[in-house]
Amino acid sequence: MLEFKNKVLIIGYGSVSKCTLPILLRHIKIPYKNITIIDFADKRKDLQPWIKRGIQYFQERITPINVARTLSRHVSSGGMVIDVAWNIDCQDMVNWCHDNQVLYVNTSVEEWDPYANIENKTPFEKSLYYKQMELRKLTAKWNHDATTAVLDHGANPGLISHFTKKALVDIAEKSIRDKGVSKTATRDLERLVRDKKFASLAMKLGVKVIHVSERDTQITNKPKRVDEFVGTWSIEGLREEAISPAEIGWGTHEKEVPAIATVPHCGPKNQIFLSQMGMNTWVRSWVPYQEIVGMVIRHAESFTISDRLTVWRAGKVCYRPTVHYAYMPCDETIASLHELRCRNYELQPDCRILSDEITSGYDILGALLMGHRYNSWWTGSMLSIEEARRLVPHQNATTMQVAIGVVAATMWMIENPRCGLCEPDELPHEFVLHVARPYLGELISVPSEWTPLKNYQIIFKENPYSYLDKKNVWSFQNFLFRN
Ligand SMILES: NC(=O)c1ccc[n+]([C@@H]2O[C@H](COP(=O)([O-])OP(=O)(O)OC[C@H]3O[C@@H](n4cnc5c(N)ncnc54)[C@H](O)[C@@H]3O)[C@@H](O)[C@H]2O)c1
Repeated sequence: MLEFKNKVLIIGYGSVSKCTLPILLRHIKIPYKNITIIDFADKRKDLQPWIKRGIQYFQERITPINVARTLSRHVSSGGMVIDVAWNIDCQDMVNWCHDNQVLYVNTSVEEWDPYANIENKTPFEKSLYYKQMELRKLTAKWNHDATTAVLDHGANPGLISHFTKKALVDIAEKSIRDKGVSKTATRDLERLVRDKKFASLAMKLGVKVIHVSERDTQITNKPKRVDEFVGTWSIEGLREEAISPAEIGWGTHEKEVPAIATVPHCGPKNQIFLSQMGMNTWVRSWVPYQEIVGMVIRHAESFTISDRLTVWRAGKVCYRPTVHYAYMPCDETIASLHELRCRNYELQPDCRILSDEITSGYDILGALLMGHRYNSWWTGSMLSIEEARRLVPHQNATTMQVAIGVVAATMWMIENPRCGLCEPDELPHEFVLHVARPYLGELISVPSEWTPLKNYQIIFKENPYSYLDKKNVWSFQNFLFRN
């Protein structure tokens, strides 16, 4: 069993943290007395069984003013910070951990106050893309052997980058097994898989679009009440990203940029931002074995996957897939989001994260790679509530997928402590999926004949916006839900 003898600080004891802690200690031997948890809410009762074993808990809030002081009180050189709170500025954390040689992992790149001065910010300044550019500036000055910080390593962002790589390998292997690929093409595919040249592999296979497609079918016998937001993970986290503009990794096969889009002026320019909330941007997508309509909520993986799968030649982009989220949350969240619209996006006074009151359902989360010879291919996890509870009592399927992403990243970080700043795409997918496999329920990797035009019925032919681009089947506009 992996051992970690230095100090560990866990920030936040919410839904992800609760699920992460027991799995972390199942995989890594850490003396209880070396673990400290802080949360601004009173979690003493929840944490009692852990406090009895020696884990320390402090009811504290990390703020821009006290961040350095708080971190240095609980963790020191050689230690580790697991940040599973929300709205803690990632740059400040990364900076402090780097300067103090402390390992750092989080599940989402965030900032202190995402709503401050929002009306004066440009679409570029509001974007996650901007945060990625700021992180690049920050780390440009680091040495090559800087202390490891793994960002965005939950389920999505996180495991989804590894599902994407597995899907690419599985499509290549099936192509080689099936007839119709020349000897030269077979040799190329084998070489690209062996050398882990995922961008060239995606180009060679003809992948045009990647959806992070998720359908959460968990239901409860305690439905949402009026003025209550109910979900299966952080309500604050979801609200922040849901009301933010949709961000899309923009593929080279796309012919028409939407009229409401902004293209960034610097960096790899692999994304576009829509001047429209992610929660109000709906696309048609597919999970095993049903069509879904999901929201294009912005997420780091739209940036990192499309960036890492870009093929550059002589400083020019010659291939890149379109990448974005298509999120169909649980029924209670769909109703909660609709009420949020009615409230002009002011959060409901009561919030509830579902756990023991879930009666059945799955979180079905995977990478849907489209546009290649099999049309579509989905690789991901189909995890039931029953299986999640068997793995860790009182947890739900959604937080289980996130927690195992955090644990796998933590294990990799301990074994690779001098790798500097890493996004999930920099971690080896075989290692992460090997650790995660027992926690994912069914790990599915299957072809599907689905295309956005397959079952699409145009109800209002007279509506010019119903236009479908039949020549460019995989174009973004064909996925947009418009009826
Ligand atoms: N990558 C993924 O797949 C994924 C999935 C789900 C959640 N997340 C992210 O994980 C994080 C945690 O999610 P969750 O569902 O556990 O949320 P949660 O709201 O259940 O828990 C977060 C906890 O952090 C505490 N907290 C917040 N700010 C704090 C601060 N400044 N100081 C101390 N404590 C603070 C809160 O009191 C809360 O108890 C969020 O950032 C969320 O966006 C990522």
